[in-house]
Amino acid sequence: MNNFELYTPTRYVFGSGSISRVGSLIPSGVRVLMTYGGGSIRNNGVYDQVVASLSARGIEYSEFGGIEPNPKYETCMKAVEKARAENAGFILSVGGGSVLDASKFIAAALCYDGADPWDFLTGRAVVKKAIPVGDVITLPATGSEMNGNAVISRISTSEKLAFSSELICPVFSVVDPTVTFGLPRRQTVNGIVDTYVHVMEQFATREVNTPAQDLSAIAIIRTLVAEAPKVLAHPNDYNVRANLFWCATLGLNTWIAQGVVQDWSTHAVGHELTAFYGIDHAMSLAIVLPRLWKHKFESKKVKLAVLAREVWGAAGDDSAAAETAISETAAFFNSIGMPTELSAYGIDAREASDKISNRFRERGASCGEDGDIDADAVREILLTPPL
Ligand code: NZQ
Ligand code: ZN
Repeated sequence: MNNFELYTPTRYVFGSGSISRVGSLIPSGVRVLMTYGGGSIRNNGVYDQVVASLSARGIEYSEFGGIEPNPKYETCMKAVEKARAENAGFILSVGGGSVLDASKFIAAALCYDGADPWDFLTGRAVVKKAIPVGDVITLPATGSEMNGNAVISRISTSEKLAFSSELICPVFSVVDPTVTFGLPRRQTVNGIVDTYVHVMEQFATREVNTPAQDLSAIAIIRTLVAEAPKVLAHPNDYNVRANLFWCATLGLNTWIAQGVVQDWSTHAVGHELTAFYGIDHAMSLAIVLPRLWKHKFESKKVKLAVLAREVWGAAGDDSAAAETAISETAAFFNSIGMPTELSAYGIDAREASDKISNRFRERGASCGEDGDIDADAVREILLTPPL
């Protein structure tokens, strides 16, 4: 097991009715900016519950709505202006991972004394200070509710980049699974696939003798595979929704990442697919993951074989079992309505592979646990024939 240092500062409040706790979790005397997205919180009652909880405590707040999926830097900067003008001291994010990631960026940008907080995304600056962020998270997918990551898109340059800091970890996250009863099917499926891939970015790498982390990863995948058909058949089943939400949090709250070798190249390539073609984050991952596994078959096959044996009871040697892991993963995604082919999203593989490999080349970028997913590898991965 590799060395690690773990710090998880988020108070995690889970369960039906928990939104009523929000007001009591916000420190007294701060001005709150409540951020939200395109309106789902007004339709599903979350907005009313949050407002009731804030009002019961006499908390002053203002609102910034309209944060879009794959949150835009341009929108975030408008929120920064508003927060600065109002002297906001706390951001309350109410919505999915996009609203929360935007809120994290806003919280750090407000305290940045450089010219342009986009510097956090390019790596030109690190976060030294941020106002606190708390959230009511309404979509199980990103794990953003318990990590220090934020992913922001910039329209003018077709870029989608991530940054991290423990200073933007939410100080609290409120999770009420009942608010996901009305999630559109597409978002439910996106959340399951995103969680699956998060777990695999931390599991399907090299063996470094981490059985507790590995079995935790397998437990999350087994739960996803078992609960996915149930949630599609019974979207209002509380326990199924609760299990999926907790899996999403566990998938990227960094616990299963400790001491293991991590990958994240499916995300790096997937973010470019979203940046160029606007497809949902999880869709990009469903395309890239099985292809990337084929490309890295030899170095990943031991872990992929464990996955296949533990989740699908695969027999045979490592190579045979690893092949099963790839085909069963793609079959699982397809079975819940998530296509794994670029053509299913109207994307031309030749064009996408050119654009994205050129971008990797321009940046001199390479990623993955061995640092060998470079421009040429990206081209090969995206040109992998249909699965
Ligand atoms: O905007 P509103 O009206 O709120 O609607 C949203 C949005 O249209 C809707 N929604 C959210 N909760 C709902 C709901 N609709 C009905 N009922 C509810 N309870 O769902 C749509 C998608 O929301 P979004 O926040 O974009 O989805 P998600 O949580 O999947 O977040 C995706 C973003 O997170 C980034 C992705 O790249 C993408 O930008 N990621 C963040 C990570 C992190 N911070 O650690 C890691 C991930 O790998 C990922 O990259
Ligand atoms: Zn993801």
